[in-house]
Amino acid sequence: MNDSEPDLSRYLDVVKSATRCAVLTGAGVSAESGMPTFRGKDGLWKEYRAEELATPEAFERNPDLVWEWYDYRRGIVEGVQPNAGHEALAQAEDLFEEFTLITQNVDGLHQQAGSRNVIELHGNIRRDRCHLCSRYREEGEGRECGCGGPFRPDVVWFGEALPAGAIEEAFRIVSTADLVFTAGTSSQVYPAAQLPYTAKEHGAFVVEVNPESTPFTPLADLSVRGPSGVWLPILLDPSGIGSRSDSG
Ligand code: APR
Repeated sequence: MNDSEPDLSRYLDVVKSATRCAVLTGAGVSAESGMPTFRGKDGLWKEYRAEELATPEAFERNPDLVWEWYDYRRGIVEGVQPNAGHEALAQAEDLFEEFTLITQNVDGLHQQAGSRNVIELHGNIRRDRCHLCSRYREEGEGRECGCGGPFRPDVVWFGEALPAGAIEEAFRIVSTADLVFTAGTSSQVYPAAQLPYTAKEHGAFVVEVNPESTPFTPLADLSVRGPSGVWLPILLDPSGIGSRSDSG
């Protein structure tokens, strides 16, 4: 099968009858908006060392450096827009009885595109929280919380726990979904990377959208080797999946 023209026949049968859909996204879904990924050829981890910038130890050791790096990334986020892949996912919420978007991304572009039912596994770079008491920083507050702790970006650093309940809810969702997409993720960072495997174990039809193969690719029911900004609008096109948009 030529990867550039995947065989969608089985997928079209599944998507017409699917009632519970879940999507896992990674940095690749924001690539066409101009956001750098982490492990691609121009990935952030090719240029920067995660241990120096994205761990609690790094922040405690050199908070100014960590703030400088996140302010740089925030600047990129503020300068980009959601792409057609984000928009297709936002519109897809109305195509299924249940639709949940589970993202590893911290850029907030899914919500900016209109997605409402979003589980942010790794936090959100547009928010700050106290490193000690976890209270969110309010507009106008300085870099220090009233409890004396320092504010830090509300993103999950390596070695930190995911937001309470987020991954548990994500596993519950993919365990009961009948159609699951994994898009724009290298499937290397756990526990998020386990989600598509769990979906498969529970009988979901799993679609992978990625220009490159990943460790999960051999298990995908449909592997679309291409950019999510091109393929998610095709795969989630209401007219393309025909009757279901009439069935409401
Ligand atoms: N469309 C779809 N996928 C793409 C595109 C695109 N246009 N461009 C690149 N990709 C794919 C790459 O092939 C790669 O497999 O996106 C994936 C990005 O992988 P990573 O950079 O590893 O990003 P991600 O999987 O989200 O990383 C997971 O690691 O550093 C931590 O917390 C960070 O959430 C992040 C986690």
